[in-house]
This record gives sequence, structure tokens and C-alpha cells, in this order.
Amino acid sequence: MYDLSYIKVAVSNLNPQDNLEAQVKSALKALKQIEPYTAFHSYRVGLIAKLIAQSMKLKHALVDRIAAGGMLHDIGKSGVSLSALLKTTALDKEEYEEIKRHPEIGADLAQSCPLFIELVPAILYHHERFDGAGYPLGLKGNAIPLEARIIAVADTYDAVTSTRSYRLARSHQEALDILKSGSGSQFDPLVIDALFVCEQQIDQYSQHLKSQFDLNQEEFI
Ligand SMILES: [Fe+2]
Repeated sequence: MYDLSYIKVAVSNLNPQDNLEAQVKSALKALKQIEPYTAFHSYRVGLIAKLIAQSMKLKHALVDRIAAGGMLHDIGKSGVSLSALLKTTALDKEEYEEIKRHPEIGADLAQSCPLFIELVPAILYHHERFDGAGYPLGLKGNAIPLEARIIAVADTYDAVTSTRSYRLARSHQEALDILKSGSGSQFDPLVIDALFVCEQQIDQYSQHLKSQFDLNQEEFI
């Protein structure tokens, strides 16, 4: 049985000679041992966030940080009870509070690895909402780091268009409608505008990733 200590050891054993991309992939492989869906989802979120960041014409270094942060945004789920994480019925209050700890658990994990420290804002704040109603801190608007505002949009797009044990995937258009309706409340309107600039690319890439990497496939990265 794998748990948080497994991923802590995996992160502490990352090869210091490796670059950020290689270290992120190693950490994702460790996450896959614990919760494969989260690892596949995280990988796609990183690549979708990268497309949005590129359409915002951000600097290369920031785009790379957003892609890496997206890939590790849910690494803290390795420290959440699997029974709560994999539950297919509604969560009770205690289970929801448990799952809400994952950004902070993930940020603590990232702090322990020199190359991941710059990813902490992306990991810690990806569940903040633009209107201040998110967690863990309830940050509002531009007080939420840009990388986290972008990852929040990519995260929702991938979650909506993915099949889970409790519901089927919804279409690209449904995901766009949901994201558009959350512009200015849950999501940064500028990030939503950027998503619409590259939405066709996101649709194609997302479908490609989902067809290429399925949960039964051993090596996905
Ligand atoms: Fe998350």
C-alpha cells in the first residue's frame, strides 16, 4: 500500500542532476503508483495550462513553470485518504475537509525539493477562486498568483471532459460553457479569454492525450 511517505521518499530521491521537466516526470510516476487517475489528469492539466499560458504570450520561463506546476498541482492528493479520494457518492463534511488539505500537503512536498520550490504558488493556490470564495486562503483576483489562476481553468476543463467512475465525460463545448459561465466569479476573465483563443488546440490535444494514455498503459510519460 502506497501513501504519503512513498511520495516523500520519491521526491527526496529525485536525481539532482535532472532538470525540472525530468524531475516532474519522476514525481508524476511516483504519484501514478498511488492514484493513477490523478497522475494522468495532472499530466494533461500541465499541458493544457501550457497552451493557455502560450496564448497569453507569457515569457518562456513562466510558461515552463506553469506547465510543471500544472503537472504537480494535485501531488498533495497522495496524502489524502484514498477512500475519500475515490468515493463515488457525495462526500460528507469531514471527507471534503480532508480533500481540501491537498494543496497544502502538495506545497509542503514541493518545498522539500529545490527545483520544485518555484512551483509552490501554483500548487498551493490552484483551488482559490477569482471572487475570493476558494481555498485554502480565500485570496481574491490578482492576489492569486497567475500560474494558479491558469491552472484552475485547465484543471476544470480536464475534469469536466474526463470520465470518472461516477459520471461520463462531458463534451468540449459543455466544458467551454461551464468555464465561460464561471468567468469573473470562479475564474480570471483574462484567462478565460486566453482559453477561447486556443480552445481548438486544447480540444485536439486533450483528445490526443486521452486516446494515447489510458489507465491500463504502464508507461505514459
Ligand atoms: Fe486540486
